[in-house]
Amino acid sequence: MDKFVIHGGKKIAGRLTVEGAKNAALPIIAGALLMKNGESTLHNIPPLRDIDTLMAMLKHLGAAVTLDREKRTMTVNAGTLTANTAPYDLMRQMRASFLVLGPILARMGKAVVSLPGGCSLGPRPVDLHIKGFAALGAEISEDQGYITASAPRLTGNTIYFDRPSHTGTENIMYGAALASGTTRIINAACDPEVIDLALFLNKAGARISGAGTPTMTIEGVESLHSVEYSVMGDRLEAGTYLMAAMTAGGEVEVSGVEASALDMVLKKLREAGAETILRDGGILLRAPERCRAVNAVTFPFPGFPTDLQACLMAVLTKAEGISRIRETVFEDRFSHVMEMRRLGADISVAANEATINGVAALSGAAVMASDIRAGAGLVIAGLGASGTTEVLRVYHIDRGYYRVEEKLASVGADIQRIAS
Ligand code: UD1
Repeated sequence: MDKFVIHGGKKIAGRLTVEGAKNAALPIIAGALLMKNGESTLHNIPPLRDIDTLMAMLKHLGAAVTLDREKRTMTVNAGTLTANTAPYDLMRQMRASFLVLGPILARMGKAVVSLPGGCSLGPRPVDLHIKGFAALGAEISEDQGYITASAPRLTGNTIYFDRPSHTGTENIMYGAALASGTTRIINAACDPEVIDLALFLNKAGARISGAGTPTMTIEGVESLHSVEYSVMGDRLEAGTYLMAAMTAGGEVEVSGVEASALDMVLKKLREAGAETILRDGGILLRAPERCRAVNAVTFPFPGFPTDLQACLMAVLTKAEGISRIRETVFEDRFSHVMEMRRLGADISVAANEATINGVAALSGAAVMASDIRAGAGLVIAGLGASGTTEVLRVYHIDRGYYRVEEKLASVGADIQRIAS
């Protein structure tokens, strides 16, 4: 298991380009399963482990898939699908594999999909996905950890989500795209990645309107055709680098991302003392000498993203004053707190709120990544700590960040991957 060794306390300066967004690439690749004719070409695909997991799933289902990792280009030919079962072995590696339920059901009339695994962020049910497909007329049963959904053709309906679910919205979009009649999703997720999926599906002939708003309307069509599409830039990777500059000090320019996708994040970083300059397709951030405390609440988009909560916490560990972060999206997303304490952070947690009493300095220690984003938070905390920090279990981080150590080293961070 590889680890990162970080000699912290060095300012960073320079320019970084983000990869395509993992959380847009995954639903778009799964969406390519809907296309019966020809081969879709997808650009800006990040060469990450989670993408490999989904590729393996597509191949298992009978699709022909290629990925040129250098060019970041994938082709998917889903003309013939030969299996309708998504096995546990692939599902347990990544929760987002559950996204294949909608496409398999819409294409084949029946899907047998294992309940998902992936990051351990407390209980993460899929009831909203299931209720949505039931509302579209699917018969659903559960047996031995597998969900079976069947419907010769789904039928449009109005679906009310109790709360906005990101992949839940995307899963229903697939089913509704090929359903008979019109579907409305009320309380849909508004994330930029949902809009990217809608743009991709519409290019392929779907009729989706209202993506990016809480009410989405999808008029079902008979079939979709293959397309060429380029995935949006990764706002979470961009946010991580901006926060790296906040913990290490210095300035960084990130390109390949729309600043509008990071509105709330930039607002919080400015509150903490950052100077930001928005450019076309990029953001320049200058860190203050010392950050100020801020309060934040994670919330579905356009709220502060739960996926950047650990990184923001890393920034606030050394801020002047007391900050509070309330986590409202996931029940159990503070696994990084114990690890940040090992670096000298003063953080207490009561229920879903963390109180961060900013300290003058952090000092290096060995810490362990427990999921993608907690791991990213520990890396950037390590950049701001004096001495040596070792971040163990970086395979979690590799699921969501492509060669993050090389990118950070290219702007002056002292970070190395040690294979073991
Ligand atoms: C997606 C992102 C993940 C991000 C999360 C929240 C991808 C591949 N992953 O995950 O990085 O952290 O959005 O922004 O895009 N819920 C239910 N029932 C359901 C579905 C969800 O109760 O059927 C709950 C979840 O437990 C959670 C909340 O709804 O508390 C939001 O989860 P959801 O938006 O579905 O997250 P994901 O789509 O899994």
